[in-house]
This record gives sequence, structure tokens and C-alpha cells, in this order.
Amino acid sequence: MNTGLLENGMYVGKMPVEVNDALLKEGEWRFNTYCAPCHDRTGTGRGTVPLRWAASGGVWQPADLTEDRVVEFADGDIFNVITFGRRTMPSYGAPNRANERWAIIAYVRVLQRAAHGNINEVPAEQRATVEYKGPPPEAAPATPAGATKQ
Ligand code: HEC
Repeated sequence: MNTGLLENGMYVGKMPVEVNDALLKEGEWRFNTYCAPCHDRTGTGRGTVPLRWAASGGVWQPADLTEDRVVEFADGDIFNVITFGRRTMPSYGAPNRANERWAIIAYVRVLQRAAHGNINEVPAEQRATVEYKGPPPEAAPATPAGATKQ
């Protein structure tokens, strides 16, 4: 619960808390507050911080949390990343207590699940509400607006 580790020092595979609506709601606002500035609200790593960094000529690329590599992380591994930070990512342990970190991880799993879902998994009567209404993907600008030099 407090370390993300088993007694033998291995990362715990599944979080030791019950995943329910309240936990996911807690995880959602915490993710949007503490993680999305860098990882963006969908988790793909295109938040405003790296975009600003890029605008001033630097490179600081947060991980894409929806990629298979991170999908395969044990829950305890992500707990460790939040608690201590990793390589160029700072720690977010201080503002998030242990149970709050598990809530964030539960929400990261939601984002991963959503990123790998497909339209056939959405009930037919709800499909219209999730349809993409933007420009055709090939017409979207290659460089996000926030990444242009000012
Ligand atoms: C200030 C920017 C920033 C914030 C905020 C941030 N991250 Fe990161 N994160 C990064 C960067 C940069 C990396 C890539 C680190 C590297 O590989 O050098 C990263 C990598 C990761 C990784 C992959 C680690 C690995 O071993 O490859 C996970 C998981 C992760 N972040 C989760 C989170 C979660 C959950 C939060 C919110 C509690 C969060 N991050 C908040 C910048 C951030």
C-alpha cells in the first residue's frame, strides 16, 4: 500500500485498493492536476510543459503513458515513478498520499484502456457522442499550435 513493493522487493502487480467510481474520480482530477501539464489529459505526452519547452528550442519529452511499454508496467512500478520521479521526471509523491497515488494509477489504466479501444466496443446508441468531429487527420497541422516559436 505505501511502497508499491512486495516483501521480496518486487513491484506489486495489481494495486491493493478497490477500484470504484469514487477512486476513479479522485484519480481523474489528480491526473489532470499533477500529470496532464506534461503528459496531457489523454496521457500521450503532449502537455503544455513540453510544448513550451519545445517552443524555446529545448527537448523534454514525457513518456506516452498509453504505449504498450507503459501498459505493461506493474502498478507498483508506476507507483514508484510517482513517488520518486524517474530520470528526467520529477517526483509527485509529496502532493499525493499513497492512496491518492493508487487513484492516479487507476485513472492511467482508464486512459490506456480508452487509447486501445475501438468503436465497436462503444454501445451503438452512444457512438454518435464519441465520433471524431475535427478536420480529417491528414489535414491536421504536423506541429501543434503551442509548439511554434513566438
Ligand atoms: C513536469 C513534467 C511531468 C509531470 C508533471 C509528470 N511527468 Fe511523468 N514523465 C515526465 C518525463 C519527462 C518522463 C520521461 C522520463 C525519462 O524517461 O527521462 C516521464 C515518464 C513517466 C512514466 C514512464 C517512466 C518510465 O520508466 O519510462 C510514467 C509512468 C509517468 N511519467 C507517470 C506520470 C504520472 C502518473 C504523473 C502524475 C502524477 C506524471 N508522470 C507527471 C514528465 C512529467
